[in-house]
Amino acid sequence: MCGIVGYVGFRNATDVLLDGLRRLEYRGYDSAGVAVRTPSGLKVVKRSGKLSALESALKEERLEGPLGIGHTRWATHGAPTDPNAHPHTTEDGKIAVIHNGIIENYLELKEALLARGHRFRSETDSEVLAHLVEEKYRGDLFAALREALKEVRGAYAVVVAHEDHEEIVAARTVSPLVVGLGEGENFLASDVPALLPYTRKVIFLHDGDLARITREGVEITDLQGNPLKREAVEVDWSLEAAEKGGFPHYMLKEIYEQPWVLENTLGGRLREEEGDVDLGLALDPREVERVHMVACGTAAYAGLYGKYLLEALARVPVEWDVASEYRYRDPVVDGKTLAIAISQSGETIDTLEGIREAKGKGARTLGVVNAKGSSLTREVDEVLYIHAGPEIGVASTKAYLAMLAAMALLAVRFGRARGTLSREAAQGLLREMRKLPRLVEEVLEQRPLVAHIAEKYHQAQDFLFLGRHVQTPTAYEGALKLKEISYIHAEAYPAGEMKHGPIALIDEHLPVVVLATRGPLYEKTLSNIQEVRARGGKVIAIATQGDEEIAKLAQDVLYVPEVHPLLAPIVSVVPLQLLAYEVAVLLGRDVDQPRNLAKSVTVE
Ligand code: F6R
Repeated sequence: MCGIVGYVGFRNATDVLLDGLRRLEYRGYDSAGVAVRTPSGLKVVKRSGKLSALESALKEERLEGPLGIGHTRWATHGAPTDPNAHPHTTEDGKIAVIHNGIIENYLELKEALLARGHRFRSETDSEVLAHLVEEKYRGDLFAALREALKEVRGAYAVVVAHEDHEEIVAARTVSPLVVGLGEGENFLASDVPALLPYTRKVIFLHDGDLARITREGVEITDLQGNPLKREAVEVDWSLEAAEKGGFPHYMLKEIYEQPWVLENTLGGRLREEEGDVDLGLALDPREVERVHMVACGTAAYAGLYGKYLLEALARVPVEWDVASEYRYRDPVVDGKTLAIAISQSGETIDTLEGIREAKGKGARTLGVVNAKGSSLTREVDEVLYIHAGPEIGVASTKAYLAMLAAMALLAVRFGRARGTLSREAAQGLLREMRKLPRLVEEVLEQRPLVAHIAEKYHQAQDFLFLGRHVQTPTAYEGALKLKEISYIHAEAYPAGEMKHGPIALIDEHLPVVVLATRGPLYEKTLSNIQEVRARGGKVIAIATQGDEEIAKLAQDVLYVPEVHPLLAPIVSVVPLQLLAYEVAVLLGRDVDQPRNLAKSVTVE
């Protein structure tokens, strides 16, 4: 996730860009840069580090001109260094490009461009866009971008400036981009807050839209160059609301960001043709004899999912602990142990201590982390970033989905390297993984139904969540979300365990959420639903689209699209996040900052 700003008008672009970037800094803050069309040509200043580093540099080297583009980065490909910061330029410095998203086929594009004599100065996927536009350029910048994008696969919001043109051109797919309309000036940004000091009249570009922006106006087309009409809307958000993208809470915004997040976590890493994934890790999975998963809370549930997957696909034994237990149970560790620590913040003290314990006993260590440069990333041997972007809501949502996706990636890599997962089976899984962003988008459309169910049950005193196999962690996570933000007591169990005790709780007052998606244990889960029904419990089933049978058994059903059973948790947890959210709102809770909780727990 990165922040993008573009300006063409009569003000000094540098001021508008810096102001906009400051308002978008929440989208990424490991480097920033601007390109401004000055009387002596297109000039770029960019710096790694926070925006303040760029601001200082621009005090030394003042850029003056009425057109420019600016970027604040959340690194995906390539470390947060000066050369990897955006804008990226062509060798002659005439074209500058900023990009948010991931170019999935950048390696093949880069190889072809290198073979044709282009020279690269960064390790980013984004730089290929500058060179591609240069190749396609015949005097019409808009046409050049269109032609370049025909060769690009992936997610992007991209903005291009050219020294000889008094216009900026842009395009979006998946990653957001908004045009701001002024008088004698026009703007572009990843998000509305950057525009609010100047205009409230905006056009939200749609997926596949391209835009040419001049001082006088905006022209929008599709990838074929056909003109498109997009309505301008007047936003009446306060700045605070705008930072939440118009959503009433960060948590809801982050839930809605999940399709994009999955694209980011998975996109550039899937290699369907080879039936493998590219994680850029030096670790050889064949040298690993056992895995220890160490994490806390939501991240720990992602680790439990990882255990099921690694054991199923890679036949490697996995021990799973919450970190606060792991570090004190004197775990048996040796040089063939891989300890995997999972953490959104990378600062959770229990997780850090857990990984130190494993490391101290000779384990190799891998961090699955969201926050760049966090403590955990410095302590582990290698890092697999989940690329979820900044998560502000205290209850973790998008980081969880990204962690699940990272676990699936790891399991495929391990399975392939260890010879336990055939190429064909991996290809099947990867094809399904590729569909996940779209499938999650479909699930989000169910929000009105979730709200209806929340209305029905929000007065309940307790909830029970049940799931089997890979859906056991989903049940745990669903219960955790509900208790965290609604303060309703919720318990989760593996469905088969219910009859060994929790069944005593069931009566007509207890809503029971059952993860009953299709898979090898579907029939067994149906039997558990019967057991709940027989005791008067109210069943809310999470089921696979098209399952008519379940509607006869459950009081309420939330359908999720069909996907490989091992990936079903990635779509199934989304309605549970929404359910927790809707219940909490109905109860008037402080959704983004629930009582007693902190985003990053740095005490034991
Ligand atoms: C739940 C939640 C916490 C965190 C846990 C670990 O919504 O946010 O349970 O998952 O404190 O935090 P990280 O992932 O930062 O290590």
